[in-house]
Amino acid sequence: MAAGIDDIAIYIPRLYVDAADFARGRGLDPAKLQKGLGVSQMAIVDTNQDPACLAANACLRIMQRNKLSPEDIGRLYVSTESSFDESKAMNSYVIGMLEQVYGQGAFEHCGGVETKFACVSGSYALYDNTNWIRAGEAEGKHALVVVSDIAKYDLGSSGEMTQGAGSVAMLLNDNPRLLAFDPKVTSTSIKDEYDFYRPFGKETPIVHGQYSNLLYLIQVRKALEAYKKKAISTGIIKLKDDETILDHIDFLNMHLPYANMGKKALAYLVRHEWRTLPRWKNIIEKIGMSEPIPKDPRGTIESVLGDQEFMEKDHEFTKMFTKTEEYQEVYESKLASSLIASTMIGNLYTASLYLGFRSSLEFEYQKGTSLAGTRVGFGSYGSGSSAMVFSGVIQEEFEEIVKDMNLESEIGPRKKLTIEEYEALHENKLGVTDSMLQPKKEFVLTEINSSVGSGERRYIFNE
Ligand code: HMG
Repeated sequence: MAAGIDDIAIYIPRLYVDAADFARGRGLDPAKLQKGLGVSQMAIVDTNQDPACLAANACLRIMQRNKLSPEDIGRLYVSTESSFDESKAMNSYVIGMLEQVYGQGAFEHCGGVETKFACVSGSYALYDNTNWIRAGEAEGKHALVVVSDIAKYDLGSSGEMTQGAGSVAMLLNDNPRLLAFDPKVTSTSIKDEYDFYRPFGKETPIVHGQYSNLLYLIQVRKALEAYKKKAISTGIIKLKDDETILDHIDFLNMHLPYANMGKKALAYLVRHEWRTLPRWKNIIEKIGMSEPIPKDPRGTIESVLGDQEFMEKDHEFTKMFTKTEEYQEVYESKLASSLIASTMIGNLYTASLYLGFRSSLEFEYQKGTSLAGTRVGFGSYGSGSSAMVFSGVIQEEFEEIVKDMNLESEIGPRKKLTIEEYEALHENKLGVTDSMLQPKKEFVLTEINSSVGSGERRYIFNE
């Protein structure tokens, strides 16, 4: 049975910090953010927004657009790593909000959980719900998988340049208009790691930035290796001698903590895949240097990062490789469109990969690319750490969904924050009711009960 994504909706907070203002505020060269990381603007939540209301807003959009009633939804999953409750699941908050619009008890039949594994948990939730549909358990109902996060790092930390916030809701069913997932190829890798984590009670993560970059690459490559075996053995991809699996993936979406991480990942995966092919010889000749090898090729990530000579040479090699027309062709045709939204919004943790997918659909369609029947690959990564690689095929009816996509109008009119306003929000100096923007047709937080041992949250839908 086919199963996949029928429609996709986003909700992005309208407040943002401009990368140039931010850089000036921190004494950095704006080019480090804009060119080095691919960050132009970072979406920031208002005082009356939390990840649950971002998720509810994305859900409401997808339900209203498709004229769905709660009876049409069989499961509602929320994936997040910005959870504010150790027990009550975020989907319960979301259902509470949706019932303000659809009526008390309207979703009482609708099961689901909140899932957690840093940025990769949304991909696990998609996979589990796809299998619920494939197993024939859905009985004509849809599943809603919502990925929602606020990426917030300590003031002055190197992670602060890679913040963002937003939510993506995905409607899954057995007759998807957008993308049908390829069966029996989804592949994972997992390892107990401390690259990025957020202990109980802490609002911001503890991050080993460069370690996390390298670990992301290694884990995704491992998952890609497993995917490759499955794609070949199931016969969905048939490789000729001088081909790699990436030649058969028309568009690639990577987890995007910042846009340039997608470029880094593509370069790393392509290098790995091309190394054994005849075309590599030609590329090495063009670059004019052989591929560097670390002193201890089977060493730990720490030993590779500590091998300064290798790191410098490898950086130089990667820079030259990414300038070759062979890499540029792959980059422009398979990845570039998926990065546009990330540069405008920033990291959305669980939602970043799917915002990238949404971005690639909109901007490839605008270019006039013929999308039906093309294969889309996904490289999902979550710190801590796990990667997932899977794929799907764009369906004939995709145009019904994609033709009306417009990132700018879906975000709505944005307000640029001064650094002082941003810092006041970041440090929670304002109360829930001191919002900077007037809410319109959206759910907002009205109260967090501050009496000891309570913490109960109240929301309303603003007409
Ligand atoms: P950093 O170490 O300060 O930055 O922070 P850098 O020195 O690596 O510079 C970044 C890039 O800017 C480099 O480009 C520089 O050359 C360039 P590259 O060499 O890599 O191509 N650059 C400049 N370019 C132009 N003009 C200039 C200039 N200066 C430098 N003047 C880091 C970067 C990502 C480490 C930091 O922001 C951080 O810690 N971020 C948070 C962690 C993170 O995002 N890790 C990514 C992988 S892990 C992941 O994706 C999971 C995650 O989403 C969480 C989850 O799963 O839940 C984070």
